[in-house]
Amino acid sequence: MTKSMSVCKPLLSSLVLILSSLILSSVLLAQSPPPLLLGTAWYPEQWPESRWDADLALMQQAGIHMVRVGEFAWSRMEPEEGHYDLDWLDRAIAAAGKHSIFVVLGTPTAAPPAWLTQKYPETLRVSEDGRRAQHGNRQQFNWANPKYREMSRKNAEQMAKRFGHNPYVIGWQIDNEYAEVSFDPETQAQFQQWLKARYGTLDNLNARWTTAYWSQTYTAWDQIPIQVGYGNPGLLLSWMRFVSDTWRSYQKNQLDVIRANSDPRQFITTNTMGWFDGYDHYTVEQDLDMAAWDDYVGEGHLDPVRNGATHDLTRGFKQKNFWVIETQPGFVNWADINNSLDKGEVRAMAWHDVGHGADAVSYWQWRSALNGQEQYHGTLIGSDGTPVPLYAEVTQVGKEFEKAGPVLAGTSIKSEVAILHSYDSRWAIQWQKHNNKYNPQDEIVSYYGPLRAIAQSVDIIPPAAPLTRYKLVVAPGLNVLSDTAAKNLISYVEGGGHLVLGQRSGMKHDDNSLQSERQPGPLVSLLGGRVEQYYALTQPVPFEGKWGRGESQLWAELLSTKDNDTEVLMRYGQSNGWLDGQPAAITRKVGKGRITYIGAWLDPKTMAEAAKWMAEDSGVKPAFGSVPSGVEVSRRYGAQSVVYVLINFSGTPQTISLPRAMTDVLEGGSKTAVTLANYGVAVLSAPL
Ligand code: GAL
Repeated sequence: MTKSMSVCKPLLSSLVLILSSLILSSVLLAQSPPPLLLGTAWYPEQWPESRWDADLALMQQAGIHMVRVGEFAWSRMEPEEGHYDLDWLDRAIAAAGKHSIFVVLGTPTAAPPAWLTQKYPETLRVSEDGRRAQHGNRQQFNWANPKYREMSRKNAEQMAKRFGHNPYVIGWQIDNEYAEVSFDPETQAQFQQWLKARYGTLDNLNARWTTAYWSQTYTAWDQIPIQVGYGNPGLLLSWMRFVSDTWRSYQKNQLDVIRANSDPRQFITTNTMGWFDGYDHYTVEQDLDMAAWDDYVGEGHLDPVRNGATHDLTRGFKQKNFWVIETQPGFVNWADINNSLDKGEVRAMAWHDVGHGADAVSYWQWRSALNGQEQYHGTLIGSDGTPVPLYAEVTQVGKEFEKAGPVLAGTSIKSEVAILHSYDSRWAIQWQKHNNKYNPQDEIVSYYGPLRAIAQSVDIIPPAAPLTRYKLVVAPGLNVLSDTAAKNLISYVEGGGHLVLGQRSGMKHDDNSLQSERQPGPLVSLLGGRVEQYYALTQPVPFEGKWGRGESQLWAELLSTKDNDTEVLMRYGQSNGWLDGQPAAITRKVGKGRITYIGAWLDPKTMAEAAKWMAEDSGVKPAFGSVPSGVEVSRRYGAQSVVYVLINFSGTPQTISLPRAMTDVLEGGSKTAVTLANYGVAVLSAPL
């Protein structure tokens, strides 16, 4: 062989390789993922490669167009330190591609390999009682540990370099369900540094935490402990803020390296857990492209109100459409009773997700590993590799998603009502419940349910979010009220909005200290009234007024009015003497706007009346029109059209007459009424 030939041959073959990969990419890129995606979690590392194609063919047959892959496969990706093997993953992605299945890659950092934690034991988290976690489960890593971050980043970098331009990879999930933190001395030192950066001087910290109380005064940063659950309220809140910032930087450590090595078309997300409050999701989500959550019913059946609120909470993280990146195929393995959802309920749930703004629904998981902790969990195929009964229902969803996808493409939710939600407030109430039955999340849902039923669309957003687009803003339990949020609320009311504050609002300041004014603190003068005293209740307290007669449960705040134009809406009846005949809800018109304070925990009937009043007073209209009770309506807007998703959760068949003729997207034809069996679904579109 001549020298020129030997140089030429590799050159030629790499040219051929480049050309063929260019052709392949342009062919693949011509196919973009469907706008409404059905997916599943798939673990190719658990199966022989010879099985992959059969699995993918069954997925394709079910209309599944997305697999999430890799999120627990670190030991397979890096069997020894620095020794990466991603070829199998490359082959798995290519195999999926052949079946028109797109891939979301999970970084595997929720499950470090044994060699890693053996060699670097400092990467294992330490629990509050000082015990170091062991290998053998997952989430045993320390999220604050620099070595763990270094190892995670290297792994994410390898993955991104290899797959950041792969046409079949549409996005990334970083880690899996951030949750566990560490209480080791190194993390504590980081917390102390964080405090120093936030408070500047110990004098400032001591003043803002009122450490004169119980001789808590700190004279050196390294004296400051970690406290959780019970402790100085300023310290407790600071720790949770540190935890949140540390999750953010933990995520950013991987996110930056993925972004630097991937196409912008690939999104980056992480999977959250609904109302889980182990960190402030608004802090962590700000760096992501999209929110995604794991929607599990567990024991029992889908509660469309509670689950709908959770969707709306998740949609509020980025204030745009989101993914349900995990959901149960019938049942789970971790509840007290792992009952199955009924026949038809899984389909209804998938459409309920879409109605609330999900653009993807993905089942966890495709098939149970033959061994491992989750053998009993619901799946789409059995241990023999053939479909389980639910597969047919999921196939129906797959076909429907394919049909409805083009109609739903580019549509999103627009609401006239917003509910304000803040982690600071939920934590603050939870640390000092005052009535152990008081659950701030239940408080939010108690307002959400009747408001959602009237408006048929509600956003759940943080208190500093822009509010001008809403006709009605409701803040149940906005216990911690920062100056920024207070300004936002005041200008909303002055601009003509109706703000309703629920019980326990406006009590605390930014450091979880008491406001120096009584509740609702900086909003007292706008309201022309205030909370004179709060009472935890052992017995319900009667009240009556504009919203009829009812009972306050768990909690009652005695209100007073200062200004003549502040109106009393409800008054307590006879109870502990203090509350007898005193105001329970007050309201004041402010120019074109209004501010209302509700000091009682309203029973459901009264809350329904209160919600009706709030909606009428604010000009809130139902998104669709009236529907029989138990039928859920959702609305998604496109540029030219509006799409409604109607689901019958009432238990019996229901006929719904439509406010105008609409196209039945799933069944075809123009309709003026639809009849839905229990769990029946209609997707209807009409021009704007
Ligand atoms: C989720 C988790 C999955 C799987 C699932 C089972 O919390 O992200 O990996 O364990 O629960 O329901």
